[in-house]
Order: sequence, then structure tokens, then C-alpha cells
Amino acid sequence: MTENFAARLGSAAPRGTTAPGLFVCFEGGDGAGKSTQVRLLTQLLEGRGREVVVTRQPGGTPLGSQIRQLVLHGDHVAARAEALLFAADKAQHVDQLIAPALARGEVVITDRYTDSSIAYQGAGRELGADEIRALQHWAVGGVLPDLTIVLDVSPEAGRARRGDVHDRLESEADVFHAAVRQGFLDLAAQDPGRYLVVDAALPVDEIHARVVKAVARIDAAASTAQGPR
Ligand code: TYD
Repeated sequence: MTENFAARLGSAAPRGTTAPGLFVCFEGGDGAGKSTQVRLLTQLLEGRGREVVVTRQPGGTPLGSQIRQLVLHGDHVAARAEALLFAADKAQHVDQLIAPALARGEVVITDRYTDSSIAYQGAGRELGADEIRALQHWAVGGVLPDLTIVLDVSPEAGRARRGDVHDRLESEADVFHAAVRQGFLDLAAQDPGRYLVVDAALPVDEIHARVVKAVARIDAAASTAQGPR
């Protein structure tokens, strides 16, 4: 970690103790409906006067956009190269966008983060969840979401929802997507206080209501820890 990066993060301590902002992440298989929920939560929080930074991974920074092109649409990307490219995107993202926004006290909502790599590269590509978790947490300097919402979708429903356009990951067989799904559920089971798992087949409004409730809970906890904001 560079000195600047470390200074902005405060340290690599768990989130909630260092920066004043709120960090919320949406995760789930392809076609889970994350972007709709990101939009609804953003509108709600902005309506309440919060500064919200919305981002997605891979992408979200100039370097991230180039990595996105390489990793999602390149030919013959080896599994370990894929894992390293996703990690590089996260490192850039945290340094340029996420850590500065949290330090300013803003809300950051990200469409995918470290858990996507643990699920897709660790479980889906079978590179090992522990190895990919270590790589990803190193890449982001320990900056982890206050709340991760997993929109749980079956491979069949995900395929039906995303239609005919497929990137490299989306084109994988159902068995790959089933491993990814299990990867997300395993992560949530290991740390239930920091996760909300919602059935992606529920109506959009019902999912949103559950998300809002969970965000209010962690927001209240963060406010108590940091004083009013
Ligand atoms: P994207 O077009 O952003 O789709 P979605 O709407 O499903 O998020 O595609 C991102 C793809 O990259 C998706 O298939 C998941 C995959 N991915 C990884 O494999 N590892 C990662 O670390 C991240 C962030 C994404």
C-alpha cells in the first residue's frame, strides 16, 4: 500500500471503524436484477439528501474500463490471468473512487465487489475461495462493505433473464453458475451480520423493501459508532 492510499483508508482495519461513509454492495449471479435494486436504493438515499457514489465492477475508472474490455470480451484469458485482472480492477477502483468517497462521508453503492471474484474465480473457475479471497482483500487493502446484499438466482432463471447477449463469464454452462451461486451463499453463511440474502425471484418492490430495512439497520449502527451525520 502506498502512503497516500494508507492515509486515505486510515488503515486496513475492517470498515466502519475508519472512514465515515457507508459502503453497500450488491452481489449475485448474472441476471439477478442487481442494477434495478442499485437504482432504487440510490434514488431513495439521494431523496433523503445523501451523497451517493454508484459504481460497478469491473469498470468504473478509466483503467477499469480497459480491464473490463480485456477480461469480459478478450479471447483465451487464462483463469489465473482472469483472477489477476479482476483484482487489478478492484485495486484501482478502491484507490481512485471508493476510499476517497468513503473518506468524504459519502455512501458508496457498488454493483459487485470482492465476493464476485471469490464466487466466479474461486468457486466457478475452481481456483480456490481462500486463495482468491486473500488476493482480493490484498487488492482492496482490506476495505470491505458494511453490508453485502446477495440477490440469489438459480442458473436457469439467470439465463432466462439475461437473454441472448453473453460475455465470457455469462456464456459458461449452468454447472459453472451453480458453483458461483453456492460460492455467494457460502460467503453469506460465514458472516450473516454483514450479509442479506434475498431470493431474486421475489417482486422488485419486496426485494427493495428488504434492502431498505437492512441498510437502515447498518446505517443506524454506523451512526451510533461515529456520531450523527
Ligand atoms: P457485467 O456486465 O457487469 O454484468 P452483471 O450485470 O451480471 O454484473 O458483468 C460482469 C461479469 O464479470 C459477471 O459475469 C461477473 C464477472 N465478474 C467476475 O468473474 N469476477 C469479478 O471479480 C467481478 C467483479 C465480476
